Amino acid sequence: MADLRIEGLCKGWDFPVIDRMDLTVAEGEFFVIVGPSGIGKTTLLRLVAGLEAPDAGSIHVGGRDITDLPPYERRVAMTFESYALYPHMTVFENIASPLRARRMNGADLKKRVEDVAALLRIDHLLDRKPGQVSGGQKQRTALGRTLVADPEVFLLDEPISHLDAKIRHELRQQFHTLEDLRKVATVYVTHDYAEALSLGDRIGVMGTGGLVQIGTARDLFETPATRFVAEHLGQPTINILEAQLVESGGRLRADLDGIALDIDDAHAARLRQSVNGAGAVCVGIRPQHVRPSDEMAGDGQVLNARVDLFEALGSTGILIAETGGPKLTALTSPERLFDHDEAVSLTVDTSAMHFFDIRTGRNLMGTGGT
Ligand SMILES: Nc1ncnc2c1ncn2[C@@H]1O[C@H](COP(=O)(O)OP(=O)(O)OP(=O)(O)O)[C@@H](O)[C@H]1O
Ligand SMILES: [Mg+2]
Repeated sequence: MADLRIEGLCKGWDFPVIDRMDLTVAEGEFFVIVGPSGIGKTTLLRLVAGLEAPDAGSIHVGGRDITDLPPYERRVAMTFESYALYPHMTVFENIASPLRARRMNGADLKKRVEDVAALLRIDHLLDRKPGQVSGGQKQRTALGRTLVADPEVFLLDEPISHLDAKIRHELRQQFHTLEDLRKVATVYVTHDYAEALSLGDRIGVMGTGGLVQIGTARDLFETPATRFVAEHLGQPTINILEAQLVESGGRLRADLDGIALDIDDAHAARLRQSVNGAGAVCVGIRPQHVRPSDEMAGDGQVLNARVDLFEALGSTGILIAETGGPKLTALTSPERLFDHDEAVSLTVDTSAMHFFDIRTGRNLMGTGGT
């Protein structure tokens, strides 16, 4: 069982970047890490690959402690944001380089390289140099070079972020289907939320010091442990609004400085416990839960609004609405177009609201966290 187990991992320079991180990625699991720039994603991968030494903690692969092993003894492969191909070598030789380093050659080497190239559909390019192939093909060459080494742990640092949408989509499909990738424990770093959702068995959201929350895409989307997680998963970004909780006529309401939203009973009961039903909170409402009223199935609270900005995106529309209180981002169906300043009736699905502690950002409904 070649799982990856990270325990109490610490790494910092002038400040701690990774602080007592624990993480286990199972054999065959595709674990995706998302998080803002500069938070420590690449640092984590470099620690696992052996390109950085940790300040404390340990890293195990398949029960073997690799913390102090040099990179080439780890059976951990890493691809980088930049492809780092050898420009003077052919695609074949680039892919073959890890095998040559292990003194493999002849027919065995040729077969292994050709198999991997066929898998990645670059077998017709093996005689070319990296300068003579496209960006996506370079990327696949770099992936091939990583795959050919038959690693137990596969680390991918934004491997497809530089490619155009069509190639990205194609590569994403390949990640799903590549048997060789499905056997190893894979850690995949991306900025792209849609990519995280489509690829990850589990997703970890990285914040200061380590992973803030780990879960399936659905866990993270529906029950974010903190405001930070809510803001980093979901497109368009969740509406986060400061609100004052007010009791009125036996109901709890969120007063959003100009509009008041009724809080449903289940949420109200928890809020009465956690913040005594009074005071300031952060309310999170996903754009998916604010729709033009005639598009909204089910109950909700209707707001009369005006269109401030509208963007048609083909498969959906994004509408920024003036509500008389805070601006709200709403999603609309693809067929509709809206003009600036047009009056629009929006329905907010108040049962899908999130509530966060205004100071700590913690989800006041309580969630598992990591
Ligand atoms: N060798 C180093 N010396 C000093 N500080 C470093 C070193 N390597 C990384 N850092 C710092 O550690 C932090 C995390 O960097 P890292 O490259 O891991 O971020 P990241 O999450 O991969 O960001 P991005 O999404 O932009 O690639 C940054 O503040 C960075 O400046
Ligand atoms: Mg990085």
